[in-house]
Amino acid sequence: MGRFYATTPIYYVTDAPHIGHAYTTVTTDALCRWRRLLGDEVFFLTGTDEHGLKVARAAADAGHSPREHADLMSARYRDAWDHLDISYDDFIRTTEPRHYAAVQEFLQKIYDNGDIELGVYEGPYCVSCEGYYAESDLVGPNDDLCPIHNKPVEELREENWFFKLSRYEQRLLDWYAANPEVVQPETKRNEAIGLIKTGLRDVSITRTSLDWGVPVPWAPGHVFYVWYDALINYVTAIDYRTSDAGRFEAWWPKAHHLLAKDILRFHTVYWPAMCMAAGIDPPHRLYVHGYLLVGGEKMSKTTLNMIAPADLTPEFGVDGFRYHLLRDTNFGSDGDFSHEGMVARYNADLANNLGNLVSRVATVVGKACGGIGPAPSPDSPLATVATDVLAAATDAWERVRPNEALEASWRLVRETNAYLEANEPWKAEAGPAVDRVMGDALEALRIVTILASPAMPTICREIWRRLGLAGAPEQQRLPEAASWGGYPGGLTVEKGDPLFPRKK
Ligand code: ME8
Ligand code: MG
Repeated sequence: MGRFYATTPIYYVTDAPHIGHAYTTVTTDALCRWRRLLGDEVFFLTGTDEHGLKVARAAADAGHSPREHADLMSARYRDAWDHLDISYDDFIRTTEPRHYAAVQEFLQKIYDNGDIELGVYEGPYCVSCEGYYAESDLVGPNDDLCPIHNKPVEELREENWFFKLSRYEQRLLDWYAANPEVVQPETKRNEAIGLIKTGLRDVSITRTSLDWGVPVPWAPGHVFYVWYDALINYVTAIDYRTSDAGRFEAWWPKAHHLLAKDILRFHTVYWPAMCMAAGIDPPHRLYVHGYLLVGGEKMSKTTLNMIAPADLTPEFGVDGFRYHLLRDTNFGSDGDFSHEGMVARYNADLANNLGNLVSRVATVVGKACGGIGPAPSPDSPLATVATDVLAAATDAWERVRPNEALEASWRLVRETNAYLEANEPWKAEAGPAVDRVMGDALEALRIVTILASPAMPTICREIWRRLGLAGAPEQQRLPEAASWGGYPGGLTVEKGDPLFPRKK
């Protein structure tokens, strides 16, 4: 048992939540739910990023003040996450007073340590990234486009305060060498190290051309550059203080940050250096995934290919949607999202496998066992499958490979269906032989329900209830709860409506 602190990026209040944001958030949620099953004390943070030029412009375009716009859009993220059953413990908004206090204290500390100095910035800036580029980073026929957004960059010239990132090149390389596990997967780690090796330039971290930001304590008229405000959210939420650390020390640096590759540089270079400069340890883990693509392209306002979770949940259910995101994306690689792919996965794994198993078991127990579930046998062939599956799933969740964890868990579903097909209890006379098979199937289902609950919390609660079990899968503790023999027998098993009606 330990403490597990996990975060999603805080999303800009410019775009509405789409399935890309949902992917990171559902993955983080499933991971947190898994950790709670292991008995860890979990703190799960998500929220919204509300300052900066991009937000100020989006608000102006919508005819709102930045604050009105942030209120409206932040609520949309919160609603989306509530709809998707996201078990966040805290939802941070960068416009909250607690965040202003933490940002000012954190950056004041770096200033006092001597790593923030006056300077002049002149060069390209991408407003969509809220990021600086070197001329050599730019792409396109005229070398004037942002490499992430393929949009023209703007030329910026400002006299500002700079964070002396250049001083951290060697320290970052040493830190990555000493902690090779920090960035996962390894391809993303290599990318991070590559960025550092090309040389780090100081970063302009304050603005005078804009007032939508956190005021700089030592420089009236300046606000902090949005990324230097945003990254600090990860410590605001656990009560960062330079003195009287209390809660902060309980949770830091055991942070697990999940994010996509678009913001790798900010998290693998800027953020660890900022932590070092402020005199705290850098985060424990950075899990960097790829993009969910629609029609082979990243979702964006310009291509009009954004899909909202609520476009899909009426058809597939919240849990069906969650399952699909987790099962069909290989964490770290890009994944192509398609309606056909979603239907195929839903029919194969949910309708034909899990749904069919639940309905078969309830039907046969109803007919042959008087509706009362028999106890499993200790030497069932499914017992060893359950042991192997638990080990494989545990290992996969540990590595943040939800698709592998679910693939492993579904092995128990498939083997149980195969066990029923081999024994055909629906054809046999009621009696001890049928009881034995059905007890084994009920026990396997009980274990599957626990293992699948991080992905499908509501459906698994319902299966648990139909099996006649008290409490809920999320109250169980692994590994004990998954060891063979937990189904007591003698419980009333309920046959309900199909959990996953087949899609055409
Ligand atoms: O970058 N596929 O916010 P953002 C997968 N505010 N994930 C995707 C995705 C896609 N197509 N599109 C978005 C910001 N995401 C900053 C973060 S953190 C201190 C500040 C997810 O609204 C993914 O997690 O642009 C990506 O990193 C994030 O949304 C970017 O969200
Ligand atoms: Mg973005």
